[in-house]
Amino acid sequence: MKGNAVTETACGPFRSVGRMASTFTSLYGPDLRIPSPSPPLRQGLTLAGLLAAQDAYHQGHGRRVAAYAERLGRRLGLPEAEVEILRLAGRLHDIGKIAFSRDLLCNRRRRLSPAMVEEIRRHPLWGGELLRAIEVADAVVDGVRFHHERRDGSGYPYGLHGEEIPQTAAVIGIADCFDALTTDRSYQKARSIEEALALLAGFAGRSFDPRLVEAFRREIRDHGPAAG
Ligand SMILES: [Fe+2]
Repeated sequence: MKGNAVTETACGPFRSVGRMASTFTSLYGPDLRIPSPSPPLRQGLTLAGLLAAQDAYHQGHGRRVAAYAERLGRRLGLPEAEVEILRLAGRLHDIGKIAFSRDLLCNRRRRLSPAMVEEIRRHPLWGGELLRAIEVADAVVDGVRFHHERRDGSGYPYGLHGEEIPQTAAVIGIADCFDALTTDRSYQKARSIEEALALLAGFAGRSFDPRLVEAFRREIRDHGPAAG
């Protein structure tokens, strides 16, 4: 894995270890909902906290993707253990971005160099390797490794097709896409809920499993978007 010294970041929302620690505590302390997380999981969640502290957008993104994935799992009637896997994979899905270079983290221009694009395309792989190294459950690792794969093979980094994509990753992919569409990002303004649901419907089949997209659309229509 590439090195990335978080404490050396000069452009993030924090500039000291103390600020980083207090940011982590405020972001993740009261919301873990795990009475006593295993050491590997605690390490993974700590890293997710560092990612959130490193990038303001990820402060809410991981939490919302976890909430959407959990809700879709419940809507599909999955067993509680699988819903929990979805929630954790959602929370940790972008953890590989912790390895992004300072150049990419500090980049505020729309244009990315080929090296930066390659970094972005590798973050699911880095995330999976990182979580595997600290012995997080395989199902969570797979949800992270494959969350940018698409049914027509156009996803990254592996170019998997259709049923090769584990359901956990397919659910995370939909949750991630919907949150990206409905929140302001550096390169695009947030779409309305209806616009985002229509776009998602258009991606069904080509990018996402139509059955999962339909269940997600019903869930959002019935219960609305995630808070904050
Ligand atoms: Fe991602």
